[in-house]
Amino acid sequence: MRFFLAGSLLLSNVLGTAVPRAEQKVDYTGFKVLRLSLAKASHDIEAQIEKVAAHILNPGKTTLDVVVSPESVDTVKALVPESIIINEDLGVTLAEEGELVSPDFSASAVPSETWFTAYHPYADHLTFLSDLQGGFASQSEIFTAGTSVQGRALTGIHIWGSGGKGSKPAILIHGTVHAREWITTMTAEYFAWQLLTKYASDTTVKSLVDKYDYYIIPAVNPDGFVYSQITDRLWRKNRQTVSSSTCVGRDINRNWPFKWEVTGGASTNPCSETYKGLAAGDAPENKGLVAQVNSLRDGKGIRLYLDIHSYGQYILWPYGYDCSLVVHNSAQLRSIATSAAAAIKAVSGTSYTIGPSCSTLYATTGSSVDYVDSAGNATYSYTWELRDTGDYGFQLPASQIQPTVRETWQGLVSTLTNAG
Ligand SMILES: *[C@@H]1O[C@H](CO)[C@@H](O)[C@H](O)[C@H]1NC(C)=O
Ligand SMILES: [Zn+2]
Repeated sequence: MRFFLAGSLLLSNVLGTAVPRAEQKVDYTGFKVLRLSLAKASHDIEAQIEKVAAHILNPGKTTLDVVVSPESVDTVKALVPESIIINEDLGVTLAEEGELVSPDFSASAVPSETWFTAYHPYADHLTFLSDLQGGFASQSEIFTAGTSVQGRALTGIHIWGSGGKGSKPAILIHGTVHAREWITTMTAEYFAWQLLTKYASDTTVKSLVDKYDYYIIPAVNPDGFVYSQITDRLWRKNRQTVSSSTCVGRDINRNWPFKWEVTGGASTNPCSETYKGLAAGDAPENKGLVAQVNSLRDGKGIRLYLDIHSYGQYILWPYGYDCSLVVHNSAQLRSIATSAAAAIKAVSGTSYTIGPSCSTLYATTGSSVDYVDSAGNATYSYTWELRDTGDYGFQLPASQIQPTVRETWQGLVSTLTNAG
Protein backbone atom coordinates (compact mmCIF):
# COMPACT_ATOMS: atom_id res chain seq x y z
CA MET A 1 0.00 0.00 0.00
CA ARG A 2 1.23 3.45 -0.82
CA PHE A 3 0.78 6.33 1.56
CA PHE A 4 -0.01 9.54 -0.25
CA LEU A 5 -0.06 12.83 1.57
CA ALA A 6 -3.60 13.91 0.94
CA GLY A 7 -3.73 17.05 3.05
CA SER A 8 -5.99 17.68 5.98
CA LEU A 9 -8.30 14.73 5.39
CA LEU A 10 -5.52 12.45 6.55
CA LEU A 11 -4.56 14.45 9.61
CA SER A 12 -7.35 13.30 11.82
CA ASN A 13 -6.44 9.68 11.11
CA VAL A 14 -2.74 10.08 11.68
CA LEU A 15 -2.65 12.41 14.62
CA GLY A 16 -5.90 11.68 16.38
CA THR A 17 -8.10 14.38 17.81
CA ALA A 18 -5.79 15.56 20.62
CA VAL A 19 -3.58 17.45 18.21
CA PRO A 20 -4.80 20.75 16.77
CA ARG A 21 -5.52 20.67 13.05
CA ALA A 22 -2.32 21.34 11.18
CA GLU A 23 -2.08 23.82 8.37
CA GLN A 24 -2.25 23.09 4.68
CA LYS A 25 0.79 21.23 3.39
CA VAL A 26 3.46 23.71 2.33
CA ASP A 27 3.94 23.70 -1.45
CA TYR A 28 7.54 24.44 -2.44
CA THR A 29 6.91 24.42 -6.18
CA GLY A 30 9.02 27.18 -7.72
CA PHE A 31 10.89 27.93 -4.49
CA LYS A 32 14.61 28.39 -4.90
CA VAL A 33 17.60 27.58 -2.71
CA LEU A 34 20.11 30.43 -2.51
CA ARG A 35 23.61 30.08 -1.12
CA LEU A 36 24.56 33.32 0.63
CA SER A 37 28.16 34.16 1.46
CA LEU A 38 28.27 36.17 4.67
CA ALA A 39 31.33 37.98 5.94
CA LYS A 40 30.85 36.27 9.29
CA ALA A 41 28.32 34.00 10.94
CA SER A 42 25.67 36.08 12.67
CA HIS A 43 22.35 35.19 14.20
CA ASP A 44 21.26 38.82 13.69
CA ILE A 45 21.75 38.62 9.95
CA GLU A 46 20.09 35.22 9.99
CA ALA A 47 17.10 36.65 11.82
CA GLN A 48 16.73 39.34 9.13
CA ILE A 49 16.99 36.78 6.35
CA GLU A 50 14.61 34.47 8.17
CA LYS A 51 11.87 37.12 7.99
CA VAL A 52 12.02 36.95 4.20
CA ALA A 53 13.10 33.37 3.60
CA ALA A 54 10.94 30.29 4.13
CA HIS A 55 13.76 28.39 5.84
CA ILE A 56 17.44 28.57 6.62
CA LEU A 57 18.84 25.12 5.93
CA ASN A 58 22.17 25.34 7.75
CA PRO A 59 21.80 28.05 10.40
CA GLY A 60 25.11 29.24 11.82
CA LYS A 61 27.26 28.80 8.74
CA THR A 62 28.93 31.67 6.91
CA THR A 63 27.70 30.15 3.64
CA LEU A 64 23.97 29.99 4.32
CA ASP A 65 21.65 27.87 2.19
CA VAL A 66 18.19 29.47 2.32
CA VAL A 67 14.85 28.55 0.79
CA VAL A 68 13.15 31.51 -0.86
CA SER A 69 9.86 32.00 -2.69
CA PRO A 70 10.21 33.30 -6.26
CA GLU A 71 8.80 36.70 -5.15
CA SER A 72 11.40 37.10 -2.37
CA VAL A 73 14.56 36.28 -4.32
CA ASP A 74 15.32 39.93 -5.05
CA THR A 75 14.78 40.98 -1.43
CA VAL A 76 17.23 38.35 -0.18
CA LYS A 77 19.76 39.28 -2.87
CA ALA A 78 19.49 42.89 -1.74
CA LEU A 79 20.30 41.83 1.85
CA VAL A 80 23.23 39.65 0.79
CA PRO A 81 24.54 40.49 -2.70
CA GLU A 82 27.03 37.62 -2.56
CA SER A 83 24.52 34.94 -3.41
CA ILE A 84 24.09 32.19 -5.97
CA ILE A 85 21.10 30.00 -6.76
CA ILE A 86 21.95 26.36 -6.02
CA ASN A 87 18.47 24.97 -6.66
CA GLU A 88 16.12 26.55 -9.20
CA ASP A 89 13.03 24.64 -8.12
CA LEU A 90 12.78 22.85 -4.81
CA GLY A 91 9.49 21.31 -5.96
CA VAL A 92 11.39 19.23 -8.52
CA THR A 93 13.87 18.02 -5.87
CA LEU A 94 11.02 17.07 -3.56
CA ALA A 95 9.41 15.00 -6.30
CA GLU A 96 12.70 13.16 -6.77
CA GLU A 97 12.81 12.30 -3.08
CA GLY A 98 9.88 9.96 -3.63
CA GLU A 99 6.55 9.42 -1.88
CA LEU A 100 6.35 8.09 1.65
CA VAL A 101 5.89 4.35 1.28
CA SER A 102 4.02 2.22 3.78
CA PRO A 103 5.19 -1.38 3.42
CA ASP A 104 3.04 -4.41 4.11
CA PHE A 105 3.90 -5.39 7.66
CA SER A 106 1.16 -8.01 7.94
CA ALA A 107 3.59 -10.92 8.20
CA SER A 108 5.24 -9.22 11.19
CA ALA A 109 8.55 -10.79 10.22
CA VAL A 110 12.01 -9.24 10.51
CA PRO A 111 11.98 -6.34 8.03
CA SER A 112 13.89 -6.93 4.81
CA GLU A 113 16.49 -4.68 3.26
CA THR A 114 13.87 -3.20 0.93
CA TRP A 115 12.89 -1.03 3.92
CA PHE A 116 15.95 1.03 3.01
CA THR A 117 14.77 1.85 -0.52
CA ALA A 118 12.12 4.45 0.40
CA TYR A 119 11.13 6.91 3.11
CA HIS A 120 8.25 5.94 5.38
CA PRO A 121 5.54 7.50 7.56
CA TYR A 122 6.43 7.83 11.24
CA ALA A 123 4.00 5.15 12.41
CA ASP A 124 5.75 2.63 10.17
CA HIS A 125 9.08 3.42 11.79
CA LEU A 126 7.62 2.23 15.09
CA THR A 127 6.41 -0.95 13.40
CA PHE A 128 9.83 -1.47 11.83
CA LEU A 129 11.47 -1.27 15.27
CA SER A 130 9.01 -3.61 16.96
CA ASP A 131 9.17 -6.16 14.12
CA LEU A 132 12.96 -6.06 14.19
CA GLN A 133 12.99 -6.46 17.96
CA GLY A 134 10.47 -9.29 17.77
CA GLY A 135 12.81 -11.24 15.50
CA PHE A 136 15.62 -11.04 18.07
CA ALA A 137 13.70 -11.01 21.31
CA SER A 138 16.45 -12.65 23.38
CA GLN A 139 18.97 -9.90 22.68
CA SER A 140 16.93 -6.75 22.26
CA GLU A 141 14.08 -4.75 23.68
CA ILE A 142 12.15 -1.61 22.89
CA PHE A 143 12.67 1.26 25.33
CA THR A 144 11.40 4.80 25.60
CA ALA A 145 13.28 7.90 26.74
CA GLY A 146 10.49 10.23 27.84
CA THR A 147 7.85 11.84 25.67
CA SER A 148 7.57 14.69 23.20
CA VAL A 149 5.56 17.90 23.49
CA GLN A 150 2.59 16.20 21.82
CA GLY A 151 2.93 13.07 23.91
CA ARG A 152 4.75 10.71 21.54
CA ALA A 153 7.20 8.34 23.22
CA LEU A 154 10.85 8.76 22.23
CA THR A 155 11.20 5.16 21.14
CA GLY A 156 14.43 3.22 20.75
CA ILE A 157 15.85 -0.27 20.58
CA HIS A 158 18.35 -1.67 23.09
CA ILE A 159 20.62 -4.40 21.69
CA TRP A 160 23.02 -6.60 23.64
CA GLY A 161 25.24 -9.61 23.06
CA SER A 162 26.55 -12.67 24.85
CA GLY A 163 27.25 -10.83 28.12
CA GLY A 164 23.52 -10.29 28.66
CA LYS A 165 21.33 -7.23 28.91
CA GLY A 166 22.98 -4.14 30.36
CA SER A 167 26.35 -5.77 31.04
CA LYS A 168 28.59 -3.60 28.84
CA PRO A 169 29.44 0.08 28.26
CA ALA A 170 26.80 1.93 26.25
CA ILE A 171 26.85 2.97 22.62
CA LEU A 172 24.18 5.67 22.34
CA ILE A 173 22.92 6.69 18.90
CA HIS A 174 20.36 9.41 18.11
CA GLY A 175 18.72 10.13 14.74
CA THR A 176 16.29 12.79 13.50
CA VAL A 177 16.77 15.40 16.20
CA HIS A 178 16.23 17.83 13.35
CA ALA A 179 12.94 16.81 11.83
CA ARG A 180 13.79 17.39 8.17
CA GLU A 181 16.94 15.22 8.24
CA TRP A 182 15.12 12.14 7.01
CA ILE A 183 18.18 10.18 5.92
CA THR A 184 19.23 10.00 9.59
CA THR A 185 16.17 7.99 10.64
CA MET A 186 16.98 5.43 7.97
CA THR A 187 20.65 5.34 8.97
CA ALA A 188 20.01 4.76 12.68
CA GLU A 189 17.59 1.99 11.74
CA TYR A 190 20.12 0.44 9.38
CA PHE A 191 22.63 0.30 12.23
CA ALA A 192 20.16 -1.56 14.45
CA TRP A 193 19.13 -3.83 11.56
CA GLN A 194 22.75 -4.70 10.74
CA LEU A 195 23.70 -5.36 14.37
CA LEU A 196 20.82 -7.80 14.83
CA THR A 197 20.47 -9.47 11.43
CA LYS A 198 24.25 -9.97 10.93
CA TYR A 199 25.03 -11.08 14.49
CA ALA A 200 24.82 -14.79 13.72
CA SER A 201 26.68 -14.70 10.40
CA ASP A 202 29.31 -11.95 10.64
CA THR A 203 32.13 -12.36 13.16
CA THR A 204 32.94 -8.63 13.18
CA VAL A 205 29.35 -7.73 14.00
CA LYS A 206 29.18 -10.44 16.65
CA SER A 207 32.30 -9.15 18.39
CA LEU A 208 30.97 -5.56 18.32
CA VAL A 209 27.59 -6.60 19.72
CA ASP A 210 29.18 -8.75 22.41
CA LYS A 211 31.34 -5.83 23.49
CA TYR A 212 28.71 -3.14 24.05
CA ASP A 213 25.09 -2.41 24.87
CA TYR A 214 23.51 -0.37 22.07
CA TYR A 215 20.76 2.18 22.65
CA ILE A 216 19.49 3.47 19.31
CA ILE A 217 16.71 6.06 19.00
CA PRO A 218 16.01 6.65 15.28
CA ALA A 219 13.76 9.70 15.83
CA VAL A 220 14.37 11.73 18.99
CA ASN A 221 12.09 14.50 17.64
CA PRO A 222 8.96 12.56 16.68
CA ASP A 223 6.59 15.58 16.65
CA GLY A 224 8.84 17.53 14.33
CA PHE A 225 9.33 14.46 12.16
CA VAL A 226 5.58 13.96 11.76
CA TYR A 227 5.12 17.67 11.06
CA SER A 228 7.83 17.49 8.39
CA GLN A 229 6.00 14.57 6.79
CA ILE A 230 2.51 16.04 6.86
CA THR A 231 2.79 19.82 6.79
CA ASP A 232 6.23 21.32 6.15
CA ARG A 233 8.96 19.14 4.65
CA LEU A 234 11.61 21.59 5.85
CA TRP A 235 10.58 21.77 9.51
CA ARG A 236 13.58 21.45 11.87
CA LYS A 237 12.58 22.06 15.52
CA ASN A 238 10.19 20.39 17.96
CA ARG A 239 6.56 21.63 18.19
CA GLN A 240 6.68 23.49 21.50
CA THR A 241 4.92 26.85 21.76
CA VAL A 242 5.97 29.86 23.79
CA SER A 243 3.51 32.45 25.07
CA SER A 244 5.50 35.45 23.85
CA SER A 245 5.38 34.46 20.19
CA THR A 246 3.25 32.86 17.52
CA CYS A 247 6.34 31.05 16.22
CA VAL A 248 6.62 27.39 17.17
CA GLY A 249 9.46 25.12 18.15
CA ARG A 250 12.65 24.81 20.14
CA ASP A 251 15.83 23.47 18.58
CA ILE A 252 16.39 20.32 20.65
CA ASN A 253 20.07 20.46 19.76
CA ARG A 254 20.42 23.89 21.38
CA ASN A 255 18.47 23.05 24.54
CA TRP A 256 20.71 20.56 26.39
CA PRO A 257 21.63 21.77 29.90
CA PHE A 258 25.35 22.25 29.30
CA LYS A 259 26.70 25.71 28.43
CA TRP A 260 23.14 26.55 27.39
CA GLU A 261 23.56 30.07 28.76
CA VAL A 262 26.63 30.89 26.64
CA THR A 263 25.82 33.37 23.86
CA GLY A 264 26.59 33.12 20.15
CA GLY A 265 25.71 29.48 19.48
CA ALA A 266 21.91 29.58 19.45
CA SER A 267 19.07 32.06 19.12
CA THR A 268 16.82 33.63 21.73
CA ASN A 269 14.26 34.45 19.02
CA PRO A 270 11.40 31.89 19.01
CA CYS A 271 11.07 32.36 15.24
CA SER A 272 14.65 31.27 14.59
CA GLU A 273 15.62 27.81 13.38
CA THR A 274 18.03 27.62 16.35
CA TYR A 275 15.73 28.89 19.13
CA LYS A 276 17.27 27.65 22.39
CA GLY A 277 14.15 27.78 24.58
CA LEU A 278 13.39 29.73 27.76
CA ALA A 279 15.59 27.68 30.08
CA ALA A 280 18.24 24.99 29.84
CA GLY A 281 16.68 21.64 29.14
CA ASP A 282 13.09 22.94 29.09
CA ALA A 283 12.03 20.92 26.04
CA PRO A 284 10.28 17.69 27.08
CA GLU A 285 12.36 15.78 24.54
CA ASN A 286 15.54 17.01 26.22
CA LYS A 287 14.27 16.06 29.67
CA GLY A 288 13.80 12.44 28.57
CA LEU A 289 17.08 12.26 26.69
CA VAL A 290 19.04 13.85 29.56
CA ALA A 291 17.57 11.36 32.02
CA GLN A 292 18.64 8.46 29.82
CA VAL A 293 22.16 9.82 29.28
CA ASN A 294 22.58 10.32 33.02
CA SER A 295 21.31 6.85 33.76
CA LEU A 296 23.69 5.24 31.23
CA ARG A 297 26.55 7.31 32.68
CA ASP A 298 25.71 6.11 36.17
CA GLY A 299 25.40 2.52 34.94
CA LYS A 300 28.14 0.99 32.77
CA GLY A 301 29.18 4.36 31.34
CA ILE A 302 28.96 5.67 27.77
CA ARG A 303 31.74 4.55 25.44
CA LEU A 304 30.42 6.30 22.34
CA TYR A 305 27.72 8.82 21.57
CA LEU A 306 26.72 9.47 17.99
CA ASP A 307 24.24 12.18 17.01
CA ILE A 308 23.32 11.71 13.36
CA HIS A 309 22.42 14.75 11.27
CA SER A 310 22.40 15.85 7.64
CA TYR A 311 23.67 17.46 5.49
CA GLY A 312 27.27 18.50 4.82
CA GLN A 313 29.40 15.33 5.22
CA TYR A 314 31.18 16.10 8.47
CA ILE A 315 32.48 14.13 11.44
CA LEU A 316 32.57 16.54 14.38
CA TRP A 317 33.53 16.32 18.03
CA PRO A 318 33.38 18.69 21.05
CA TYR A 319 33.33 21.44 21.69
CA GLY A 320 30.51 23.30 20.00
CA TYR A 321 30.30 26.13 22.53
CA ASP A 322 33.85 27.47 22.39
CA CYS A 323 36.05 27.47 19.30
CA SER A 324 39.30 27.87 21.24
CA LEU A 325 38.87 24.99 23.71
CA VAL A 326 40.56 21.69 22.95
CA VAL A 327 38.85 18.63 24.41
CA HIS A 328 41.14 16.44 26.55
CA ASN A 329 41.08 13.42 24.21
CA SER A 330 41.22 15.43 21.01
CA ALA A 331 44.00 13.30 19.48
CA GLN A 332 42.02 10.06 19.90
CA LEU A 333 38.84 11.66 18.62
CA ARG A 334 40.70 12.86 15.54
CA SER A 335 42.36 9.52 14.94
CA ILE A 336 39.08 7.59 15.19
CA ALA A 337 37.35 10.13 12.93
CA THR A 338 40.16 9.93 10.36
CA SER A 339 39.72 6.16 10.11
CA ALA A 340 35.93 6.44 9.98
CA ALA A 341 36.09 8.99 7.15
CA ALA A 342 38.46 6.68 5.24
CA ALA A 343 36.11 3.72 5.78
CA ILE A 344 33.16 5.75 4.48
CA LYS A 345 35.11 6.98 1.47
CA ALA A 346 36.24 3.46 0.60
CA VAL A 347 32.65 2.38 -0.06
CA SER A 348 31.74 4.79 -2.87
CA GLY A 349 34.01 7.80 -2.66
CA THR A 350 32.00 10.10 -0.38
CA SER A 351 34.34 12.63 1.26
CA TYR A 352 33.88 13.78 4.83
CA THR A 353 35.46 16.76 6.55
CA ILE A 354 36.51 16.14 10.15
CA GLY A 355 37.27 18.41 13.09
CA PRO A 356 36.09 19.99 16.34
CA SER A 357 32.50 21.13 15.97
CA CYS A 358 32.81 24.88 16.67
CA SER A 359 35.84 25.67 14.54
CA THR A 360 34.99 23.25 11.73
CA LEU A 361 31.28 24.04 11.27
CA TYR A 362 29.88 26.68 13.59
CA ALA A 363 29.32 27.54 17.25
CA THR A 364 26.54 25.64 19.03
CA THR A 365 25.50 26.02 22.64
CA GLY A 366 23.35 23.50 24.50
CA SER A 367 24.31 20.82 21.98
CA SER A 368 24.03 17.10 22.52
CA VAL A 369 27.70 16.28 21.79
CA ASP A 370 28.91 18.75 24.39
CA TYR A 371 26.42 17.51 26.98
CA VAL A 372 27.09 13.81 26.48
CA ASP A 373 30.85 14.40 26.41
CA SER A 374 30.94 16.57 29.52
CA ALA A 375 27.92 15.86 31.72
CA GLY A 376 27.48 12.35 30.29
CA ASN A 377 31.18 11.47 30.70
CA ALA A 378 31.18 9.70 27.33
CA THR A 379 34.57 8.44 26.20
CA TYR A 380 33.86 9.54 22.60
CA SER A 381 31.16 11.91 21.46
CA TYR A 382 30.50 12.74 17.80
CA THR A 383 28.11 14.52 15.50
CA TRP A 384 27.92 13.08 12.00
CA GLU A 385 26.47 15.14 9.18
CA LEU A 386 25.57 12.74 6.38
CA ARG A 387 25.14 13.28 2.62
CA ASP A 388 25.11 15.45 0.70
CA THR A 389 26.83 18.85 0.41
CA GLY A 390 23.73 20.72 -0.75
CA ASP A 391 22.74 19.44 -4.22
CA TYR A 392 19.68 17.78 -2.73
CA GLY A 393 20.20 18.83 0.88
CA PHE A 394 17.63 17.24 3.18
CA GLN A 395 15.64 15.78 0.27
CA LEU A 396 18.15 13.09 -0.58
CA PRO A 397 16.47 10.96 -3.28
CA ALA A 398 15.24 7.56 -2.17
CA SER A 399 17.77 6.02 -4.56
CA GLN A 400 20.53 7.40 -2.31
CA ILE A 401 19.25 5.82 0.91
CA GLN A 402 21.03 2.49 0.46
CA PRO A 403 24.34 3.97 -0.73
CA THR A 404 24.26 6.36 2.24
CA VAL A 405 23.36 3.88 4.97
CA ARG A 406 25.87 1.34 3.65
CA GLU A 407 28.82 3.72 3.63
CA THR A 408 27.82 5.19 6.99
CA TRP A 409 27.65 1.68 8.48
CA GLN A 410 31.28 1.15 7.49
CA GLY A 411 32.09 4.38 9.31
CA LEU A 412 30.35 3.04 12.40
CA VAL A 413 32.14 -0.33 12.25
CA SER A 414 35.45 1.51 11.99
CA THR A 415 34.56 3.83 14.87
CA LEU A 416 33.43 0.98 17.14
CA THR A 417 36.50 -1.08 16.33
CA ASN A 418 38.81 1.82 17.18
CA ALA A 419 36.84 2.94 20.24
CA GLY A 420 37.76 -0.30 22.01
C1 LIG B 1 33.86 8.69 33.68
O1 LIG B 1 34.19 7.56 32.89
C2 LIG B 1 35.39 6.90 33.28
C3 LIG B 1 35.60 5.75 32.33
O2 LIG B 1 35.65 6.19 31.01
C4 LIG B 1 35.27 6.41 34.70
O3 LIG B 1 36.50 5.84 35.11
C5 LIG B 1 34.90 7.56 35.64
O4 LIG B 1 34.65 7.08 36.91
C6 LIG B 1 33.65 8.26 35.11
N1 LIG B 1 33.37 9.44 35.93
C7 LIG B 1 32.13 9.74 36.31
C8 LIG B 1 32.02 10.99 37.14
O5 LIG B 1 31.15 9.09 36.05
ZN1 LIG C 1 20.81 18.64 12.25
